Amino acid sequence: MSDINKPDKDGEPMTNAKVSRRRLLAGGAALGGLVAGSTAARAAGTPDPLITEIQDWNRYLGDGVDSRPYGTPSEFESHVVRRDVAWLTADSKSSVNFTPLHELDGIITPNGLCFERHHGGIAEINPADHRLMIHGLVDKPLVFTMEDLKRFPRENRVYFLECAANSGMEWRGAQLNGCQYTHGMVHNVMYTGVQLKHLLNEAGLKPNAKWLLPEGADASAMTRSVPLEKALDDCLVAFKMNGEALRPEQGYPVRLVVPGWEGNMWVKWLRRIEVGDEPWHHREETSKYTDLLANGTARRFTWEMDVKSVITNPSPQAPITHGRGQTVITGLAWSGAGKISRVDVTIDGGRNWHAARVDGPSLSKSLHRFYFDFDWDGSELLIQSRAMDEHGNVQPTKEMLRSVRGENSIYHNNGIQTWHVRGDGSAENVEIS
Ligand code: MTE
Ligand code: CO
Repeated sequence: MSDINKPDKDGEPMTNAKVSRRRLLAGGAALGGLVAGSTAARAAGTPDPLITEIQDWNRYLGDGVDSRPYGTPSEFESHVVRRDVAWLTADSKSSVNFTPLHELDGIITPNGLCFERHHGGIAEINPADHRLMIHGLVDKPLVFTMEDLKRFPRENRVYFLECAANSGMEWRGAQLNGCQYTHGMVHNVMYTGVQLKHLLNEAGLKPNAKWLLPEGADASAMTRSVPLEKALDDCLVAFKMNGEALRPEQGYPVRLVVPGWEGNMWVKWLRRIEVGDEPWHHREETSKYTDLLANGTARRFTWEMDVKSVITNPSPQAPITHGRGQTVITGLAWSGAGKISRVDVTIDGGRNWHAARVDGPSLSKSLHRFYFDFDWDGSELLIQSRAMDEHGNVQPTKEMLRSVRGENSIYHNNGIQTWHVRGDGSAENVEIS
């Protein structure tokens, strides 16, 4: 992940695009004003064969109910897929792909579009052969089958999962041209599972139990240290996402859900939980999962994901194609600390901020959907969103982040994203100087 300057057709790295707000505003027309006479629908009466002629799909019978036993999206949506950036990692087995955020709406990520991050490829496990063991500082070590797990009381919860490395390529400047690549290491689904605390209570915790070491059944046998407090608070052992079984790439048949905390702790293909009295010293956790600061020291155990937001439309992969007039800006906001209380949007690079409208469920540690409806006069825009959570945490600018954490970090970049929208509606990843 360190070599960020190699070109790629998908990710299209940029040469640190910087835009001056002053230059832009000097040349541009007044922003945000009402544009007369431009509506979102055309007047009826102009001849349009799509209205006047009968089309094939209107004339012939379609496929029957036996043709699509497991439904897939329309062929006209075939471009809506997860994408990877080939130059980011050495091979595809220990790699990442990205959620196409600019193609989605609402707050739920469809199962087939949830970004994937794995260190040893996708484990394909027959649930009948899967076991979860709890051992260590417990009264009686236990082994659960999938059937055993489903006998505990079940809960349904919507949570976002964000990889700590999301937006990591953007620390030194604008790099990747699209919110899929800059922000797409996040997904938000409804999990069905059982509270981890029920399973731990079944095994009986010893008085000196303080830490857990969950382990995956994949080839990377990934482990993480999780403080017991968090496990007893809101962690789930989940076997369903959005109502159906987890997908193999998301940890089928069972994964750990660690609400609001960085994705690497959400161990997939969960096979073992060891209970201990101190954190384990993982090679990865001490070298990789720390935030290197400018002075050479590191932030460690930064588990909670910070308050963050991004405008998904318009954005580099989703330009404005309808011309001036009535326009919808939309995006996502989230916080590992709880609910989002407010999102502001600017179209003039931060001179004026407007309260956006959050629509849809507002759930703790879940993505929130926001909209800002305005009349575009066709002039250049610098659009940004800024989220605030219920605890008063405010999303910082990238400049503020860098002044505190330097530029050596990869993890936990929650800085405000800027898209430069040109007069033709195309958009580019930039930073304002
Ligand atoms: N669990 C196992 N067993 N193996 C892994 O490689 N990757 C972790 C975590 N759990 C990983 C894992 C990382 S770094 C992230 S960000 C999330 O899974 C990604 O979850 P997803 O693939 O559902 O998006
Ligand atoms: Co990760």
